[in-house]
This record gives sequence, C-alpha cells and structure tokens, in this order.
Amino acid sequence: MNISVIYYSKLGHSKKIAQAIADELGVKAQDIRDNPEIKDIESLYVVSGIYGGKSAPDMLEFLKTLDGQQIKQAYLLTSSGGKTTRAAELRAVLTKLGIPVAEEEFTCQGAIFLFGMGHPNKADIQNAIQFVQSVSQ
Ligand SMILES: Cc1cc2nc3c(=O)[nH]c(=O)nc-3n(C[C@H](O)[C@H](O)[C@H](O)COP(=O)(O)O)c2cc1C
Repeated sequence: MNISVIYYSKLGHSKKIAQAIADELGVKAQDIRDNPEIKDIESLYVVSGIYGGKSAPDMLEFLKTLDGQQIKQAYLLTSSGGKTTRAAELRAVLTKLGIPVAEEEFTCQGAIFLFGMGHPNKADIQNAIQFVQSVSQ
C-alpha cells in the first residue's frame, strides 16, 4: 500500500508531527517545498498549521496541482494556536479534486510565541500517532 506524508511548516511543528507519523507508517515525510511526486497513493496524510486564520497558501497551491485520480484517501492533521482548528480550506481543495477526505481530523496545540509553549509536545505527538493508527486500520 502506497502511503505519502506531506507537510508545510513555518515553525517546525508540522515537520515534527509529519516525521513522527511517517516513522510510524514506515515512510519518509516530504516537505511540499521540495515538490514531491504524489502518484498512485492509497493514503495521503497532509500536515500543516494555521496562519492568519487560514491554511497555508503554499499547501493550498501544492494540493491544487495533484491529480485526484492518483489518490484514494486523504487525512488532515493540523496544529494551531487555536488547538482545535480544522483544515477547512485544504479539505475544500482536496474534495474539489474528487479525493475523499476522512471526516475525522487530527488537531492539536501548536505554540505561537509564548502561547502554548512546548506544543506540540510528546503527548500531542503520541496522539497524532494514535490518530494515524486508528484511521489506517
Ligand atoms: C505567522 C503565523 C501566523 C499564525 N496565525 C495563527 C492563527 O491565525 N490562528 C491560529 O490558531 N494559530 C496561528 N498560528 C500558530 C500556528 O498555527 C502554530 O504555531 C502551528 O503549530 C504552526 O505550525 P508549523 O510550525 O508547522 O508552521 C500562527 C503562526 C504563525 C507563525
């Protein structure tokens, strides 16, 4: 089964989450800034943060370039200052491409300046791994 974990990260939080779940899934996390090839994928994990109340424009633009036929299922994982903010814009782009996106999303606290300092922490990372384990069964 082909699995891909992609991320966009400004402060390193999404990278940390992406690398942890990629380890769990036995693949390498890929930074979208390296323009990874996404082909023939059963499960695509999309990891990012929230900036100015929205998903990252770079991630939105990258997702728009995907071929919907090449991806069977997508999962969204988001860290944010708001802790529970979902990746609504990313979901909309993937859905428009015809890619099913799991209703359940992973969200966690991501520090912004002093607020939420230390997050995503060990427990957040463990929760992300648990999320992946539960949806990949
Ligand atoms: C420039 C900037 C803007 C942000 N704006 C928001 C925001 O509007 N709402 C929010 O909940 N978090 C906001 N955050 C917090 C990030 O979503 C959070 O730190 C996230 O974990 C960042 O992930 P990253 O390190 O992978 O980029 C912002 C962070 C930065 C750096």
